Amino acid sequence: PAATAAPAGTAPDPDFRPGLEGVVAFETEIAEPDKEGGALRYRGVDINDLVGRVSFGQVWGLLVDNEFDPGLPPAEPFPLPVHTGDIRVDVQSALAQLAPVWGFKPLLDIDDDEVRDNLARASVMAMSFIGQSAHGQSSPMVPQREVDKGRTIAERFMIRWRGEPDPKHVEAIDSYFISAAEHGMNASTFTARVIASTGADAAACLSGAIGALSGPLHGGAPSRAQHMIEGVERMGDARRYVKEVLDRKERLMGFGHRVYRAYDPRAAVLRDTCRRLGAPRYEVALELEKAAIAELAERHPERRMETNVDFWAAVLLDFADVPGDMMTPLFAAARTAGWSAHILEQKRTGRLIRPSARYVGPGPRPIEDVVGFD
Ligand code: ACO
Repeated sequence: PAATAAPAGTAPDPDFRPGLEGVVAFETEIAEPDKEGGALRYRGVDINDLVGRVSFGQVWGLLVDNEFDPGLPPAEPFPLPVHTGDIRVDVQSALAQLAPVWGFKPLLDIDDDEVRDNLARASVMAMSFIGQSAHGQSSPMVPQREVDKGRTIAERFMIRWRGEPDPKHVEAIDSYFISAAEHGMNASTFTARVIASTGADAAACLSGAIGALSGPLHGGAPSRAQHMIEGVERMGDARRYVKEVLDRKERLMGFGHRVYRAYDPRAAVLRDTCRRLGAPRYEVALELEKAAIAELAERHPERRMETNVDFWAAVLLDFADVPGDMMTPLFAAARTAGWSAHILEQKRTGRLIRPSARYVGPGPRPIEDVVGFD
């Protein structure tokens, strides 16, 4: 909605859209969630037709190249440069360091094929860095020949992280990667496009996008949703738990969405996957979901708030034994697909992104009003 409040003496600006809500700044051929229908299609293909039928590497190809093949190549053997103890920080900084190490050039100076190649290499490296960071510094790295036995990106990732993966866990991770791969003009994709629009290199675009994703209102929600589910388990009363959270004026993580006024289609796919794979917290999550939607509807009758992707992602990743601190990094790994597609699309526009702000600060004044000079 346009803002109505304007400082005294200034007329409200009808073009002012706080949070850019509803502003159409791009044309895209990749994807854009449809608000009322609750469907999500990648280049026209419904995510329901992708999950369980193709692999994440192929979906990366669909989003970036508009075809499944060649998709993503295997990651190159390259050790994680930093171990900070925080997986998200490790992968974000390792990605930024790829540019000088691998000679990535600014997007402005290279053609589309080279940009695509840089993005593919960086995307698989993001996955490899997460696997290495999670595997830990103290235990020896899983030998590359073992990793190469994996048939898909998800399987190779799981081998790098854990050595011997459970096929059901691989399926869970692949389903998650596909359903979180792209989602239109969300905050991190917008960030990636802003950086790409300046002509910076592919690694700068991807590592910047991870920073945007890390916030709790965006990609930082699944681990908090997992805490909530554990909280309900301990309390044994979903309704009471939800009321207490909302009475404390806190947010229910994994609920509400800037775009959807319907059930998030990604949440629906992941909920089905949780049921099919037998996720242990499926039932308690259903109880929490029911209580949360009912309570939010009561407190916010003007605004329909449903489950978003992060809620069922938390249940599915918990099934695959993914710890909380790895959930945002895995979201980033999945979203490298959408980011890469948008980075390439933005480069092709050749247009710098540079919006305006309405100045509401002090009027002209002498410097002596701010600091005293002796
Ligand atoms: N729990 C409780 N109240 C909520 C929630 C929630 N999950 N979401 C929105 N509200 C309330 C707000 O408190 C606000 O109430 P008020 O008008 O009384 O102050 C009202 O609904 C509107 O909230 P906004 O923040 O303006 O809505 P917006 O569209 O900007 O927010 C967002 C979308 C950020 C996702 C929000 O719903 C939220 O914080 N959800 C929880 C975090 C979360 O799940 N994030 C993951 C999003 S999906 C993703 O990024 C992949």
